[in-house]
Amino acid sequence: MVLSWSLWAPLAISAANAIELQIDSADSIKQAASTIAYDMMATYTGNNTGDNPGNLPQPYYWWETGAMFMHMVDYNYYTGDPSYNQATIQAMSWQGGTNGEFMPTNQTKDEGNDDQVFWAFATMTAAEFKFPPPPVGYPSWTAMSQAVFNLQAERWDPGTCGGGLRWQIQPYAAGYAYKNIASNGGFFQLAARLARYTGNQTYVDWSEKMWNWIEGSSLYIPNTPQGTRIADGTGVGTNCTEPNTSGVFSYNYGILIGGLAYIYNHTEEKKWLEPLYGILNGTFNIFFHDSSKVIQEVGCEPYNDCSTDGLTFKSFTIRWLVLCAQLVPQTADMIWPYIQASAQGAAGQCSGPDNSNCGYHWLTTTWDGTTGVGQQMSALAAVQANMLLVNDLYAPVTLKTGGTSKSDGTAGTTGNVPSDSTSPWLTKKITTGDKAGAGILTAIILAFTLGGTYWLVSN
Ligand SMILES: *[C@@H]1O[C@H](CO)[C@@H](O)[C@H](O)[C@H]1NC(C)=O
Ligand SMILES: *[C@@H]1O[C@H](CO)[C@@H](O)[C@H](O)[C@H]1NC(C)=O
Ligand SMILES: *[C@@H]1O[C@H](CO)[C@@H](O)[C@H](O)[C@H]1NC(C)=O
Ligand SMILES: *[C@@H]1O[C@H](CO)[C@@H](O)[C@H](O)[C@H]1NC(C)=O
Ligand SMILES: *[C@@H]1O[C@H](CO)[C@@H](O)[C@H](O)[C@H]1NC(C)=O
Ligand SMILES: *[C@@H]1O[C@H](CO)[C@@H](O)[C@H](O)[C@H]1NC(C)=O
Ligand SMILES: *[C@@H]1O[C@H](CO)[C@@H](O)[C@H](O)[C@H]1NC(C)=O
Repeated sequence: MVLSWSLWAPLAISAANAIELQIDSADSIKQAASTIAYDMMATYTGNNTGDNPGNLPQPYYWWETGAMFMHMVDYNYYTGDPSYNQATIQAMSWQGGTNGEFMPTNQTKDEGNDDQVFWAFATMTAAEFKFPPPPVGYPSWTAMSQAVFNLQAERWDPGTCGGGLRWQIQPYAAGYAYKNIASNGGFFQLAARLARYTGNQTYVDWSEKMWNWIEGSSLYIPNTPQGTRIADGTGVGTNCTEPNTSGVFSYNYGILIGGLAYIYNHTEEKKWLEPLYGILNGTFNIFFHDSSKVIQEVGCEPYNDCSTDGLTFKSFTIRWLVLCAQLVPQTADMIWPYIQASAQGAAGQCSGPDNSNCGYHWLTTTWDGTTGVGQQMSALAAVQANMLLVNDLYAPVTLKTGGTSKSDGTAGTTGNVPSDSTSPWLTKKITTGDKAGAGILTAIILAFTLGGTYWLVSN
C-alpha cells in the first residue's frame, strides 16, 4: 500500500551519528526498528535470575512494562521479526495471572486503573494482531482484556461526579480522590476495542456510557482556538468541577483518539467524528511543531523535566494517531505527514551510545544526552509505524476478520477460564544453559507466527 503522499516524504536524514532511516524502504524501517527494539529490550530484566517476567528495573513502574510489550506486539506485527515474542508472551501471561486480571499481589497496593488498562492494551493488541497465544492454562489474550474490562466496569463510581472511574483502585491511596483521563479514557478505548473485536453490544453501550461521562466532564474542553483540549484529571472533592490543567500530556489526547477511532470504525456512526476531529486538531496544534511537523511533549520536553512516565507519552500518541489513520481512512492524509516527520526526527536523535540509543528531543539531531526505555519506545513507535505505508499490512482483526483469540464475556469474574491454547508454558529463565530449550520454543513460536510473518516475504 504505497500511498501518494509518501512521494513527498522528506528524504532520509543523513546525520553521521544517528540511525539511518529511509522512510520509503521496508528494509530500512525494519533495520532501524530492530536496532531500537534491541536496545530497549536490553534494559528488560524480567528474564534475569532473581527477577520476574514483566518487570523493568527501577525507576520504571510496572505499567511501563505493559506499555513496552504493547509496542513489542506492534513490533512483531510491523516487522514480522519474532525474536522477542517469547519474552512478550511470558511477561503478559505472568503478570496477567491465570485469571487474566492483571492484579498481581506485588502491584495491587498502588495499582491504578490506568496501570491495569495499559496491560490490557497489550493483550488487546495481541488479539488484534494475531499474536501467538498464551500458554496452556491461561485465558486467551481477548479474555485477559475482558477480565480487566469486567473489573473496571464494576468500579464505575456514580457516587461522585456523576460517574466515571477513579484513578487509583485502593481507597487508601491519595489518587483515589482523582478521576483522570488515562483511567477513564483507557476504559473507553478498551471497551471500544472489545466492541469492535467481539461485536458484542454490551461493549458499545459501555463505550457510549464512558464517552458521555468524559464529554460531559470538565476534562473535555472543546472549541478552543487550538481545537479540543483535554485536561489530565479532576478531583472528586469539588465533584470534578475543576479540571487539573497544570499538566498537559499528549497521551491523554492519544488515548481518546484511539478509542474514538475504534468505536467509529465499528459502529460507523458519524457522531463520533466531530469529537475525533476536535481532538485531532488539539493534538496537532498543541503537540506538533508547526513547520517541521515533529511531535514534542510540550508539557515537559522544552524544560528538560519529563518524568520517567512522561518520556513514554509520545509513543502512545503516535501509536493511536496511526491507528486512527488505519481505522478512519479519511484522516490518513492529515495524520501521516506528522508521523513521517516525527519518525525522521526520532531517528535523528538515536545517536547515543552504540549509535542506537535514542534521546528525546526530536526537533534536533544533536543527541540530548538521555537514554531510557521511554525514549526508546517512543522512537520505536514512530519509526516502525511507517511500515504501513510501504507494506500491505492488515488492519487490526476482529473475530469476523480472522481473529482467533477467543472471547469470554465472563472472564475474570468466575475465576480461571483457560483458553484452548496448546502453547506450552515458556521457561521462565532464558539463560545460556537453556539455549537448547529456548531454541525448541522458538521453533514452536515460529510455527505459530508463520501465518503472520512478513519478515521473510516483504520487500
Ligand atoms: C511477586 O514477587 C514475588 C517475590 O519476588 C515473586 O515470587 C512472584 O513471582 C512475583 N509475582 C509476579 C506476578 O511477578
Ligand atoms: C456532582 O456532579 C454530578 C454530575 O455533574 C451531578 O449530577 C451531581 O448532582 C453533583 N453533585 C453535587 C453534590 O453537586
Ligand atoms: C495536577 O497535575 C499535576 C501534573 O501532573 C500533578 O503534579 C498534580 O498533583 C495534579 N493535581 C492534583 C490535585 O491531582
Ligand atoms: C479543525 O481545524 C480545522 C482547521 O483549523 C477547522 O476547519 C475545523 O473546523 C476544526 N474541526 C474541529 C472539529 O474542531
Ligand atoms: C474500518 O477500518 C477498515 C480497515 O482500515 C477500513 O477498511 C474501513 O473503511 C473502516 N471503516 C470505516 C467506517 O471507516
Ligand atoms: C457480551 O458481553 C457481556 C459483558 O462481558 C457478557 O456479559 C455477555 O454475556 C456477552 N454476550 C454475548 C452474547 O457474548
Ligand atoms: C533477556 O532478554 C533480552 C531481550 O530479549 C536479551 O537481550 C537478554 O540477553 C536476556 N537476558 C538473559 C539473561 O537471557
